[in-house]
Amino acid sequence: MIRFISVVLIIFAYGRSQVTENEENCPGSTVNNYILGPDGYTMQPTVYTGESPKQGKPGKRGAQGEPGLKGNKGTKGESGQADDTAEELQMLKDEVAEMKAKLGIYLTPPSCDYINRNEKTSGTYVISPDLRTVQPFSVYCNFTGETETIIEHDSMNEIQLTSCEPKKCYKRHIRYNVAMEQIVALIQRSSECRQFIKYRCIASLLLEGGYATWLSRDGTHMRYWGGATSQRNDYCACGETGTCVDSTKRCNCDKNSSPETSDEGFLTDKDTLPVTGLQFGDAGDPGEYGWHTLGPLVCTGRSV
Ligand SMILES: *[C@@H]1O[C@H](CO)[C@@H](O)[C@H](O)[C@H]1NC(C)=O
Repeated sequence: MIRFISVVLIIFAYGRSQVTENEENCPGSTVNNYILGPDGYTMQPTVYTGESPKQGKPGKRGAQGEPGLKGNKGTKGESGQADDTAEELQMLKDEVAEMKAKLGIYLTPPSCDYINRNEKTSGTYVISPDLRTVQPFSVYCNFTGETETIIEHDSMNEIQLTSCEPKKCYKRHIRYNVAMEQIVALIQRSSECRQFIKYRCIASLLLEGGYATWLSRDGTHMRYWGGATSQRNDYCACGETGTCVDSTKRCNCDKNSSPETSDEGFLTDKDTLPVTGLQFGDAGDPGEYGWHTLGPLVCTGRSV
């Protein structure tokens, strides 16, 4: 029985890899194929030559790796009762789950960092940061410079505030094109993530008096601005370095007068990214204006 199950699984695994080859490895296709590298973890792209005899080979090698697994399960089965169908069913379920996880890794890299940039061009790719918890999803991979995994949202361009005066009277919710669990999985799989944030202002307060905030992953109202590396409340980047246009203030916009100025920089705290909302105020009186810019979530490197 156990041996039969293993054989079925091997056929399943082999079938899956063959289907993938046929579906995705068409000549001229931009879809990628990956195989597990020698370390059993890192992805390596398959070299596609366009000749079908060569296509078959990686699939067969993958299937041959499985007998090791079969041997293990066989030993377990002998020590237990062969007619214990519930246990056997559970074992089968576990094995299928394990196999699916392996096949998933076989098909999709955890992030853009696992894609061989030397053979690929920047563009949209499917990644799978954590197969146990989230479905694979599409991201933009930037292979110019350090490899970046990029997730965009619905407010990518600079947006002017609608006129309003009280603290945080202007509210904008930020929506991402993938689910929060998927974003968090990518963040956890990456060594660094960042998001650019900017407020351009004319006579409009930013952090002083609590006029503006950005909302963290869990909706907490955050009180420091991009580029403030100490993450101290009420600090912008210029406040950290003592370079604000009004040296008595911690943000350029907190001078609260014309001419136009701005505060900008990267948020880099992996525990609070991505930004889920932006709120501003002090833009209701004549001559007061504000514009906000929020970049995509950009993740780099590997966390392990
Ligand atoms: C890709 O990375 C390069 C180098 O860091 C940068 O100049 C460019 O703007 C990035 N492209 C996108 C689409 O983010």
